[in-house]
Amino acid sequence: MHPRIALLLLATLPLVAAETAHLSIDASKAGAKIDRNLFGQFAENLGHGLYEGIWVGPDSPIPNTRGIRNDVVAALRALKVPNVRWPGGCFGDEYYWRKGIGPAAQRPATLNSAWGGVVDANSFGTDEFMDFIQQIGSQAYVSINVASGTPREAAEWLEYMTAAQPTALAKERAANGHPDPYSVGFLGIGNESWGCGGNMTADYYLSQLKIYSHFVRNDNPSQQGPHRMLKIAVGPGTPETEWTETIMKAWQHHDWSWNIDGLSLHWYTVPNGWPPSTPSTGFGVQDYAKSLKSTLFMDELLRKQEAVMDKYDAQQKVALVVDEWGAWHAALGGTNPSFLVQQNSLRDAILASLNLNIFARHADRVRMANIAQMINVLQAMILTSSEKMVLTPTYYAYRMYVPFQDATFVPVAFDAGAYAQGGVSLPRVDAIAARDASGKLWLEITNLDPEAPIDLDAEIAGMAVKAAKGEVLTASAVDSVNTFASPHAVVPKPVSANLKGGRLALTLAPKSVTVISLEP
Ligand code: AHR
Repeated sequence: MHPRIALLLLATLPLVAAETAHLSIDASKAGAKIDRNLFGQFAENLGHGLYEGIWVGPDSPIPNTRGIRNDVVAALRALKVPNVRWPGGCFGDEYYWRKGIGPAAQRPATLNSAWGGVVDANSFGTDEFMDFIQQIGSQAYVSINVASGTPREAAEWLEYMTAAQPTALAKERAANGHPDPYSVGFLGIGNESWGCGGNMTADYYLSQLKIYSHFVRNDNPSQQGPHRMLKIAVGPGTPETEWTETIMKAWQHHDWSWNIDGLSLHWYTVPNGWPPSTPSTGFGVQDYAKSLKSTLFMDELLRKQEAVMDKYDAQQKVALVVDEWGAWHAALGGTNPSFLVQQNSLRDAILASLNLNIFARHADRVRMANIAQMINVLQAMILTSSEKMVLTPTYYAYRMYVPFQDATFVPVAFDAGAYAQGGVSLPRVDAIAARDASGKLWLEITNLDPEAPIDLDAEIAGMAVKAAKGEVLTASAVDSVNTFASPHAVVPKPVSANLKGGRLALTLAPKSVTVISLEP
């Protein structure tokens, strides 16, 4: 054969032969509801997360509605963000809410001591946060200050937000332009009280929890009884279970005077340990494999904590709330290290999909989660710079997962296979399925292998599938990113799937997240 013909043939063949993955799904088998709150976000007063990311002020040339960026609001609406945790984080345990209400010119300038000691004009306070929540169509998850605040301050903050009767605080809210009480869906009672939130022992925190749980009330008449605000206690931040043991053991015998609906868990993907050192740009498959390996620990972590919760709460009344999670990489060069700025690559989108799949598999106990953080901080959905905005690969993964919100988990049986990279061994495939309220079956399949495509062969029982369509998120390299100059390097694209005799066939691109809808 002429060498030029041989070269041409080589160029048209895939470089790596596709493996086959067999999946079987019985659509008639229903598991737990995948609570939409698993797709929650975290927006702390940190770096450019709020200021510049959300808030530009009403006088800004950047298009805004009452100071809140229109481009960011439109992008977030497409994600159907179910809840937003605010104001912290470590910042929350230094926050005094009164600094952030009333006429902007009269608000005091303070220091954000938790994050870089920068001056905070307090322009984005309670009323601005609630405006943001309403603009994006979400629910407020307010984290109260248990470390340096008092129960009275927190109780008054909730009264300011939720009282409908003409109390002095409700009148103050009305004078600030908001006569109707706000809805506060979730109350976080402290943050990392074992660390930045006061370095408390579990027993000390427990006594604080009882006080705050009792006295910090939601007075909104529409949030009573079955629609009540859910209270979330500080939970562990390590695989150790003593903290969970202390809180849950006490909860088992709680009386009318205190209660919780959730226990939080914080866990970041930091493959090389603290301080975070993985680069967020310009890395290769070895770093990619290490990050994914590290993130898969979430499953074991949840199992450990759930085992303790099950001992004291067999009926799963208390949810495990993973209200801080995500990839924490080294800060980007040239940025303030306290602002936790990192790029977001295809690796992060795949990492997000693996975690969302883990949460879905634990959906009976894990009913809420908040990725850290929403904009310009850590594993962000959105990056901004002045008037520019770019949507990250993680944003697109979240957009592809929207149909899983409140869908019913359907078990998927598959052989995950194995992919090995420099001593790191990973499953090659991950998958979840769920049925939505309209009867559609949704299938997500992640191909972790950065080099080899996978021929998917899925057997679907319990449902006659008439049509299949889907989207794939992939890119040329594991470290591909979207930038202001090149915002569409990592965006979902349509993928073709074949249906024949109850089987679905498609090729999964290397390093990809694919979501398929199967219509009855
Ligand atoms: O998300 C950044 C920080 O990480 C939060 O403020 C804190 O709760 C956690 O340690």
